[in-house]
Amino acid sequence: MVIDKRQMKEAIILKLPQEVEIIEVCPRDGFQNIKTPIPAETKIEIIDKLVGCGFKWIEATSFVHPKAIPQMADAAQVLQTVKEKHAGKVSFIALAPNLFGAQRAIEAGADAITFVISASEKHNLENTKQTIEQSVAALTEVCKIKGDCKVRLAVATAFDCPFAGKVEPGQVISLIEAGLAAGADDIVLADTIGTATPLQMEALLKPLTQKYSQLSFILHIHDTQGMGLANVVTALSLGVTRFETAAFGLGGCPFAPGAAGNIATEDLVNMLHKMDIATGLNYEKILQVAHCIQEKLRIPPMGHLARIAACQG
Ligand code: COA
Ligand code: ZN
Repeated sequence: MVIDKRQMKEAIILKLPQEVEIIEVCPRDGFQNIKTPIPAETKIEIIDKLVGCGFKWIEATSFVHPKAIPQMADAAQVLQTVKEKHAGKVSFIALAPNLFGAQRAIEAGADAITFVISASEKHNLENTKQTIEQSVAALTEVCKIKGDCKVRLAVATAFDCPFAGKVEPGQVISLIEAGLAAGADDIVLADTIGTATPLQMEALLKPLTQKYSQLSFILHIHDTQGMGLANVVTALSLGVTRFETAAFGLGGCPFAPGAAGNIATEDLVNMLHKMDIATGLNYEKILQVAHCIQEKLRIPPMGHLARIAACQG
């Protein structure tokens, strides 16, 4: 069959939203994957600069066991400091893998918790040392104590698992059902290892957006195989308008072998603005943050634009 490219473009463009929300996760997903300790002051300085870019939500840290991720041992200090500095301007999210982590996050003043449970049993055991059933039971307890704090169920390995291979949409749907029954406010779908294709996106997002038309799913994509932005366009055309990305393209789960960085925030904002899709973010300032991350952390850039900037010296 011959496809008229013009018609195809029109069909895609007609389905695109006018506005997209981007949640910045570099201070959590990005920093958790860096072995060299980053001083809390540096983390706070980078979060301050991210606040200046216009984000409404920033994932600032995670409340995990310091032996599992030593980089996050300063979670309470970082969260409390940025909350005090930017109260009322930005909302801060903290990741928690269990009830104790969620209690610590709520105590430190988190506006929202990312409670992570994998759709793949094997990855959930590897990451949280709990079965999916145990994690859902913990999520139920977290929702009972959340108060004003929002609880976001992050479905890790929603597409592929580094240990079990392909994850079926049915596994994701049953976890979402359980999460909503537990009282979760929001659902994040994570391509934890960054191997999903646009077809896998469609296979999961189509039934989900039809089944849960009242929900606004958040997509968290890693860009391991360079399919990140293609996946975003697929998701946009299916009605998804909320995405999580990390400045400078940092990111990766230490308990998911092979996971590379998230889509770089500057790459996504560049693409969306060029497609006339508003983000409410200041692109120039995001580039400045990426530059600052490079200066402070002295690590090679992972995003496309940051790599180009590094080559140009
Ligand atoms: N923060 C700090 N300490 C924690 C904790 C948390 N969220 N959860 C448990 N602990 C402590 C307990 O208090 C206990 O301390 P004690 O030995 O002094 O009594 C100890 O850890 C063991 O508790 P247990 O419930 O058996 O935890 P565990 O050893 O099975 O560890 C996790 C489970 C999930 C807490 C740990 O593996 C972890 O933090 N993993 C990080 C996951 C992650 O961040 N992945 C990347 C993002 S998706
Ligand atoms: Zn991630």
